[in-house]
Amino acid sequence: MLAVLCVLFLYFHNPVCGVFQKLYCTISDSCDCDFKPNIRDLEWDLYKNLYGQHLAQDIVSEEVTRFLQKKNPERPLVLSFHGSSGTGKTMVSSMLGNHLYGSAMSSPYVHQFVPTLHFPLPGRVKEYREELKSWVQGNLTECARSVFLFDEMEKLPPGLIDVLEPFLGPSHVVFRTNYRKAIYVFISTTGEKVINKMAVENRQAGQDREEIKLADLQEAIAETVYNSNTSGFFHSSIIQQKLITSFVPFLPLSRHHVERCVRSQLCQRGSCARTDVVEAVGGDMIYTPSPGKYFSSTGCKAVPAKINLFL
Ligand SMILES: *[C@@H]1O[C@H](CO)[C@@H](O)[C@H](O)[C@H]1NC(C)=O
Ligand SMILES: *[C@@H]1O[C@H](CO)[C@@H](O)[C@H](O)[C@H]1NC(C)=O
Repeated sequence: MLAVLCVLFLYFHNPVCGVFQKLYCTISDSCDCDFKPNIRDLEWDLYKNLYGQHLAQDIVSEEVTRFLQKKNPERPLVLSFHGSSGTGKTMVSSMLGNHLYGSAMSSPYVHQFVPTLHFPLPGRVKEYREELKSWVQGNLTECARSVFLFDEMEKLPPGLIDVLEPFLGPSHVVFRTNYRKAIYVFISTTGEKVINKMAVENRQAGQDREEIKLADLQEAIAETVYNSNTSGFFHSSIIQQKLITSFVPFLPLSRHHVERCVRSQLCQRGSCARTDVVEAVGGDMIYTPSPGKYFSSTGCKAVPAKINLFL
């Protein structure tokens, strides 16, 4: 009887049910069995392997922790990552997948959408809308804890993403699926101008990078994303309805951050001692703006290729 109750209501967080969960999960591929969130590890990963992003570190761990503490969240967690290329956006989205699911990013409950792959033709928005809606609906029916990652939002045809509006709001239980347990992450370079401008001003004023606050950027990013016609959120009702839990700014990286990236990757290859390579790669990046040359124009993106060059 207890076993039936445990399984029926997937009441696995109850300690009494633990033993039945083990039994149940050996014969089932239910997503509740693969869902093994480890906030500690996520925080550690963010702290240790993400460089120069105090805002992203704080917001992501705070929002994810708060969200997972709720047994019945009133709305899904919707994060939108913004910043120049090579600043760590994709890396953080992978960290999320890695620390939420036992089978990490290869979990069948982590879904990645890439516009150039899934939605390449701007003229087919109508068909894509139907497809995307049925995918997300199907995925959520299978697993309320699904994670959806939308990469390169700046390449998504405008009008498409709005089909998700009903899923992102505080909707009620629809089709026996609780849509409110899902996590959505949108990634784009849109907004990089406002973010980088703020970082440059901060630097010119001789202030600490950590003095840049989310409140200084949140509104500006929302506005840019809404008004930019090369943004997937161009005139989107998702922005209008304020369905994004948080916009997460990724700041441009300075030379010392780039060198940390190089050092970390060198160590992974067993060449920790090659400070000459760290120096060479750091010096080989292009830094902007001029005058100042504060930030790497490609963040840490070109680091692996340049290591190959100098190693
Ligand atoms: C879930 O989404 C994927 C796309 O990521 C799609 O191929 C698949 O058919 C969806 N599953 C269901 C059950 O709809
Ligand atoms: C996008 O906006 C810019 C100005 O911000 C304009 O020059 C351009 O024509 C617009 N493109 C489209 C496709 O509407």
